Amino acid sequence: MKQFAVIGSPIEHSLSPILHQEIYHQLNISASYDKKEVTKHQLNTFVNTNKLNGFNVTLPHKQTILPFLKSLDDSAKKIGAVNCVYKGKGYNTDWIGFLETIKNNDLSLDDKSCVIIGAGGAARAISYGLIKNGIKSISIKNRTMDAEQKLLEWINTLHPTNSLNDKPNIIINCTPLGMWPKINSMPDIEINNKSTLIETVYNPLETKWLKYGKNIGAKTISGLDMFIWQGIASTEIWMGEKISEKIELEKVKKVLKLELC
Ligand SMILES: NC(=O)c1ccc[n+]([C@@H]2O[C@H](COP(=O)([O-])OP(=O)(O)OC[C@H]3O[C@@H](n4cnc5c(N)ncnc54)[C@H](OP(=O)(O)O)[C@@H]3O)[C@@H](O)[C@H]2O)c1
Repeated sequence: MKQFAVIGSPIEHSLSPILHQEIYHQLNISASYDKKEVTKHQLNTFVNTNKLNGFNVTLPHKQTILPFLKSLDDSAKKIGAVNCVYKGKGYNTDWIGFLETIKNNDLSLDDKSCVIIGAGGAARAISYGLIKNGIKSISIKNRTMDAEQKLLEWINTLHPTNSLNDKPNIIINCTPLGMWPKINSMPDIEINNKSTLIETVYNPLETKWLKYGKNIGAKTISGLDMFIWQGIASTEIWMGEKISEKIELEKVKKVLKLELC
């Protein structure tokens, strides 16, 4: 039986085991998926000694794992973060999960401008996906100016025609604001009924920010979609085949929703 896991610290609240066990169940694959607490001091040894057939990586190791890996997929190298490992090679499936979310919600990026709130790993992966799929412009709004400036410089090198003067149509929350247990916090940004709000937070399923957006008539997309799609993309790397058409998305969502607050 193949064995997979997600590593991180703390890892107690991860929903990845529920997601992957449902995927294996639907595909009729005999495989296990566990969560493993791995501290920063244990990371190097874990990478070199684990007997898993593949694993996911979550906070706080998405960047610090890079030097311990044998090689990196091109996108993981560019983004500078890894959330999926197979045979010692690091991949990033967060940006793929984001783009699948865009596709599955019938959103077009053509001639669209967006603002990303946050400047961490998720913001970087999503910026990469947006640029790869032809976004017109990206601006960043972050608590710490230094991180905001660094991310913007990186975006501008990947996307030299980036402009900060466009009015954003799409707003993406890449901070933990609104995440359980601090469910009453939300990003401080102007929105209107023409805005599309995309969350990366998936617990609760509908954050305070999404509820607020819905109330004023904005289009809203939950972080659960991206979470599911990054998991499907990881499974495709480990299994070496396309599985997305075989997955009943609504059934996966139903199973995960039972675990959300
Ligand atoms: N749905 C999915 O599949 C998926 C995938 C990846 C990540 N995520 C979610 O995305 C979010 C960000 O993850 P990440 O990997 O990018 O984390 P990260 O690298 O630690 O970055 C966190 C970002 O959030 C900002 N931030 C943190 N606390 C804040 C607060 N109280 N007020 C304002 N800004 C705050 C930080 O700003 P500073 O620079 O000022 O510290 C930083 O820009 C998390 O909620 C994570 O669960 C979801």
